[in-house]
Amino acid sequence: MNTKATAIAPVNIAFIKYWGKKDEVLRLPANKSISMNIDNLLTTTTVEFIPGLQADSITVNGSPLTKGNDRVIAHLDRVRALASIDEKAKVVSKFNFPMGTGLSSSASGFAALTVAAVNAAGISLNQQDLSILTRQGSGSACRSIPDGFAEWLDGDSGETSYAISIFPSDWWDIRDVVVILTSQQKEVTSTEGQRLHTTSPFFDQRLQHMKTKIDSIKQYIRQKDFHSFGELIESEALEMHAVMITSRPPLLYWTPETLTLMKHVMRWRSEGLGVYFTINTGQNVHLICRPKDEDKVVQLVQSVFPEATIISNKPANGAKTTLNHLF
Ligand code: DP6
Repeated sequence: MNTKATAIAPVNIAFIKYWGKKDEVLRLPANKSISMNIDNLLTTTTVEFIPGLQADSITVNGSPLTKGNDRVIAHLDRVRALASIDEKAKVVSKFNFPMGTGLSSSASGFAALTVAAVNAAGISLNQQDLSILTRQGSGSACRSIPDGFAEWLDGDSGETSYAISIFPSDWWDIRDVVVILTSQQKEVTSTEGQRLHTTSPFFDQRLQHMKTKIDSIKQYIRQKDFHSFGELIESEALEMHAVMITSRPPLLYWTPETLTLMKHVMRWRSEGLGVYFTINTGQNVHLICRPKDEDKVVQLVQSVFPEATIISNKPANGAKTTLNHLF
């Protein structure tokens, strides 16, 4: 106990998405999901449990955390309960990309927090238990624990829902060109948005063919069948957004720029370029391509959106500890 610990965790991009919970308290997802960790959208977090500290102190990118403070404290409470300690914690986090803009900052954020806090509390958990614990902070974050390409098992209890690595990070060299169109924060968080999922007439329909989608995406990754993979991830993103858009009240995360980029991607593809989009809860877009097309994709995006920030990513490993503490 009383050691300082630091972890670095990647964002993961979901190819088959998690949208809707079958148990809100346990954060059990309505369906399985498949993702890939990415190497350039990262959160670094240092945690220290300090005797005598009056309250948890949480600093993110140099400022005290205001939005989401309770959720972080609740997660620290889970770690304290596991470690049978009651000291409050000093937590300092750095994100190298804008938060709350649809780039899954809660995934890298809660994965880094979990690994750092568990180590700081002096307990040792295997990867499955780390993923289970991380899931309770933010669902998609449990996929940032194992390496490479991951599958989150939906499970039917708190102990059976966690993510496992299905292919290592060097299995398939594909690229995720993240296009940050704007850093404007979204109005409705993923947690709030997901509460509406059952109000969409398309949600049950979506669940019915989920098993086929999961089986197919695993097969395409195994075979490195880029075009079948790309078509499936793009139609999956559109399907999830169809559920969001048809929820009541409707959830429309796209901006006109998002739609413009989607149309361009479809046109570039019709001209022979192998590129597909996927989008989470925000205006920003992930463009998936092969290494040989990465420069071309970046150049085309720059020609349409000269102001956009573009971050290219490769498949990556999951959350890890580091000795480079932030305080
Ligand atoms: C659209 O994991 O952020 O990115 O469990 O409530 O924290 P909570 O939700 P969150 O939802 C992610 C939704 C998504 C799809 C995905 O990453 O699978």
